[in-house]
Amino acid sequence: MARDVANVWWAMFGFSVVVLVVVSALWIYAMLRQPRTHTAEEAKRINRHWIIGGGLILPTVSIIALLAFGIPTGRGMLPLPVEGEQPLRIQVIGHQWWWEVRYPESGVVTANQFILPVDRPVDVEVTSADVIHSFWVPRLGGKLDMVPGRTNTLRLQASQTGVFRGQCSEFCGSQHAHMILHVEALETDAFASWIEARAGREHQPPSGAAGQVFDERCGQCHRVAGVSDGNRAPDLSDLATRPTLGAGVIANDAEGLRRWLSDHQSLKHGIAMPRHDDIPEQTLGQLADWLETLAP
Ligand code: CUA
Repeated sequence: MARDVANVWWAMFGFSVVVLVVVSALWIYAMLRQPRTHTAEEAKRINRHWIIGGGLILPTVSIIALLAFGIPTGRGMLPLPVEGEQPLRIQVIGHQWWWEVRYPESGVVTANQFILPVDRPVDVEVTSADVIHSFWVPRLGGKLDMVPGRTNTLRLQASQTGVFRGQCSEFCGSQHAHMILHVEALETDAFASWIEARAGREHQPPSGAAGQVFDERCGQCHRVAGVSDGNRAPDLSDLATRPTLGAGVIANDAEGLRRWLSDHQSLKHGIAMPRHDDIPEQTLGQLADWLETLAP
């Protein structure tokens, strides 16, 4: 779909070049030619030609040509019925400022990463939990607004495996720029394993002081399969497999995770997660150790 959009862009660009060349040539001709005087009747006729030709016919023809190009492109992104293998459904819910990603057929939930199989159409059902966001993966296709209270559907299909960058493209508050989506297209088998590893996977709660902190604080908002049921913050069940924390703010490695736990309000000011200044550093360290085990 992104390729079709690019083709429309190139068609517009090519046509604009033609318009530029023609207008420039006329302009140069008008400057160089000998001045001629016309009778009022002649001037009126010439003006009428230019208004009808240049002002009405030319724009009408060019806009119709662009429509003929553009409408099929737009249709490619509509969730129209298909024959054979049905599109995979993936739900994406925008939050200030992160992405909730759900695979309704398997019950798998993740956050800030959007994993899809290659060469299979995917219907991305987008909505929002708070303000208007917009789902956009430039390498895969057009963007679509995520509007609270309604679901919009965008059809995508990755024609090659690889990592693509997604970005919220509707201003949604102070951390709009830090709403990055890691998009990865996997081979069909690898995608099936990705889902299978997560479906039904349950974790053990952390022990000791970290367990108590998680239970009283983190688990109220975050879900970890088998441990907690919070639903206001990113699901952490496969946290350790995500490339970044905070929707693209910082790398998800041992050091990044510890920095995020103690300094998230500086790294991404204004997010809903409260400060943890009152939690002893040692307990935060234990929590981080446990969070690093959250993988399928
Ligand atoms: Cu979400 Cu901008």
